[in-house]
Amino acid sequence: MSLQKITVKKIIEKKQKGEKIVTITSYDYSFAKIVDESDIDLILVGDSLSMVMLGYKNTLSVTMDEMIHHTKAVTRGVSNALVVGDMPFLSYKVNIKEAVKNAGRFIQEGGAEAVKVEGGTEICPTIKAIINADIQVMGHIGLTPQAIYKFGGFMVQGKTIEAAKKLILDARNLQEAGVFSIVLESIPWQISKLITSTIDIPTIGIGAGAYCDGQILVIHDMLGIFTDFKPKFLKYFGNIGESIHNALVSYKNEVEKGIYPDQEYSYEFPQNDLNGINEWFESIDLEKEAQKLRKSFI
Ligand code: KIV
Repeated sequence: MSLQKITVKKIIEKKQKGEKIVTITSYDYSFAKIVDESDIDLILVGDSLSMVMLGYKNTLSVTMDEMIHHTKAVTRGVSNALVVGDMPFLSYKVNIKEAVKNAGRFIQEGGAEAVKVEGGTEICPTIKAIINADIQVMGHIGLTPQAIYKFGGFMVQGKTIEAAKKLILDARNLQEAGVFSIVLESIPWQISKLITSTIDIPTIGIGAGAYCDGQILVIHDMLGIFTDFKPKFLKYFGNIGESIHNALVSYKNEVEKGIYPDQEYSYEFPQNDLNGINEWFESIDLEKEAQKLRKSFI
């Protein structure tokens, strides 16, 4: 299979052609390489790494430096997918100048091709400034995890007429500000269907039903590696956590019983010199020889 480089333009064209956009998160080189080789359109280096990679209780703790560190690892493993860096809490809402600078770090240091920011109409001036710096931006509305303390937890958003209206208008305004796509997180499918029908850029759903132009999941969630909690929308597409556990139990068992490593997994000393090293080992005062070697380094 010959894979082709995915660009922002191609992501938008997919919506125009009625083709679904398949996206996933990644946080390191090895996973990103597998994802890329699986013909996934877009990789988000999500701030969800705060929880699934770093063990924090939410996404508020991860820093710019940590995000850049992981973005660099991901981009080293990717040739085809579009890589988007997720701007962490406080990296773009303090002031616009800092937002542009931090967005630029994802591109210049991390090697990402675009950034994602959470928020609706209120964030549009910041989005415009980032785009003016020639950086592509993805929006994110609905349950925006950086605002969980405002929401009071990980709750479905847009469940009242007023809240739904706000989401629809936010999506229109994000499009007007210039984002190339919008993540819709944890909102009723009827509302994401309306949003998807009213904008020209693609919607990427997570817990937003079937009518989005594409879908995204956190890779550690869908592979069954991160199982601290399971939202309703999450489907396990693999049980890799259990596979890893079973492999580790086998490894422990084989090491404890002396089964691993056997000859098959061991290196050979050259047969011609085997007698020589064994004779030396039996005849020498090892402590004296070791001392001699230590002294030669003083
Ligand atoms: O951080 C993340 O992984 C995300 C996706 C779930 C959209 O924002």
